[in-house]
Amino acid sequence: MEPFAREIARRRTFAIIAHPDAGKTTLTEKLLLFGGAIQIAGAIKARKAARHATSDWMAVEQQRGISVTTSVMQFEYEDCVFNLLDTPGHQDFSEDTYRVLTAVDAAVMVIDAAKGVEAQTIKLLEVCRLRNTPIITFINKLDREVRDGFDLIAEIEDILQISCAPVTWPMGMGKHFRGVFHLLEDRMFCFAPGTERRVELETIVGLHNPLLDERFPDEVTKLREDVALAREALPPFALGEFLTGRQTPVFFGSAVNNFGVQDVLDALAAWAPPPQPRDAGARTVHPNEPKFTGFVFKIQANLDPKHRDRMAFLRVCSGRYTNGMKAFHTRLGREMRLANAVTFLANRRNVEEEAYPGDIIGIPNHGQLQIGDTLTEGELLQFTGIPYFAPELFRAARLKDPLRAKQLHKGLKELGEEGAIQVFEREGGQLILGAVGALQFEIVAERLKTEYQVEALFEPVEIYTVRWLLFPDDATKNRFVREQALRLGRDVDGNLVYLAPSRYNLELTQEKYPEVEFRATREHR
Ligand code: G4P
Repeated sequence: MEPFAREIARRRTFAIIAHPDAGKTTLTEKLLLFGGAIQIAGAIKARKAARHATSDWMAVEQQRGISVTTSVMQFEYEDCVFNLLDTPGHQDFSEDTYRVLTAVDAAVMVIDAAKGVEAQTIKLLEVCRLRNTPIITFINKLDREVRDGFDLIAEIEDILQISCAPVTWPMGMGKHFRGVFHLLEDRMFCFAPGTERRVELETIVGLHNPLLDERFPDEVTKLREDVALAREALPPFALGEFLTGRQTPVFFGSAVNNFGVQDVLDALAAWAPPPQPRDAGARTVHPNEPKFTGFVFKIQANLDPKHRDRMAFLRVCSGRYTNGMKAFHTRLGREMRLANAVTFLANRRNVEEEAYPGDIIGIPNHGQLQIGDTLTEGELLQFTGIPYFAPELFRAARLKDPLRAKQLHKGLKELGEEGAIQVFEREGGQLILGAVGALQFEIVAERLKTEYQVEALFEPVEIYTVRWLLFPDDATKNRFVREQALRLGRDVDGNLVYLAPSRYNLELTQEKYPEVEFRATREHR
């Protein structure tokens, strides 16, 4: 294989999705251990500790240095280069998470074996489903008293509507957790608690090996019954089903004990797809095209409070990025030089010479780059599929000092562009903020104060939800705008939205205008 094709083929770009506390941080750390990035593992723990130690987000914010390097972690394992995209863990602050998921080719779903499918898992999986992202499932915490494997799998299949193909099956649990039996390799991996590093685990080949009876007399019968039932009642792993997002291979383990983690990594290497072709509006872009393309899926602003700098995280979709190259900014219609972009090798944040499809680069800029922007080598393309979700909470912004209106607009516009909050402007200029989690309001209030010197009050407002509007023709649009003026607003990009005061009102309005489409998500541009 020629070198460029080989670099693409060995890339795996993925994220870990989990309800808070299921073990995402722990799993991330252990995965990095395999990649030899031990230092960063400590940093992740420190970051998580900071999150715990404070009631709000500000302390984490102060640790931005760490959080940037850990937003994207690149590590090598076997012959693969893994790009692990971190998703903000806070339950309340998940819009960013959704967008990060548009930049990956696969996801690892962590389920707490005692709790099963939780609220955040459901939401995140819905997002993965928008792009049929292949999912690998890791059922965690088998070293505790947890639920039965069949029960958990039934719940995943039922609630998440994805077929489960167990690849490993646990023997015992809690104090009696003895390991997992690998259904494809037909051998038992014996559990050893407290494993920090990569070790050779003891294995016993064959389900009917008498060694199993000898070693685990109390657990072996149930394991044999379970494996027989799993093989009979559940589907075998099928690569094609996995790649289209219809089936998930399931692994059991204990992240904190670094047990079962290597299986997940091996599955990513063997089964997860390399960088995939992407829809760029005018056409589909293939990763092996020689010309560079990519899109911005995340912005982190004001990394250094003294400078108004921002870091745009761009996923390379095709071609090769080289330091200092010129790229074409398709929204602005002009060239920009990509100098000093950073890549994210897990043990150092370095100015790297090149990046390949699947890789992420961080581009420092002063606001030219926004979420959803596409860069190319001149072709007019626009990558699609970066979602905005209808916020669930709303506040009206009011100034303490009316003379600061200009700064308020500027601040909210920039924070809106960064994706920290959604901003809608009503007829007459009233600014409405929409968030997915309440914490977003606090963050925005704090950032307005420190970064824009604006003190704003956020007051309750009677809005239940927003819907982005799509009209079949201008006549319908004009009629709607005339009749519903009071309930209309515009998002930061000028798109028309309907601000519904109640679910009932939304339903009535939808009935009244059956030809108008009311969308709960919108794609970024
Ligand atoms: P998150 O990022 O998904 O929020 O979860 P995180 O990894 O922080 O794990 C949440 C808690 O679950 C942590 O305990 C962690 O140690 C524990 N945990 C993770 N994997 C396992 C496992 O396989 N078995 C058991 N028994 N526990 C596990 P904590 O008490 O909140 O934090 P810490 O003091 O252990 O750091």
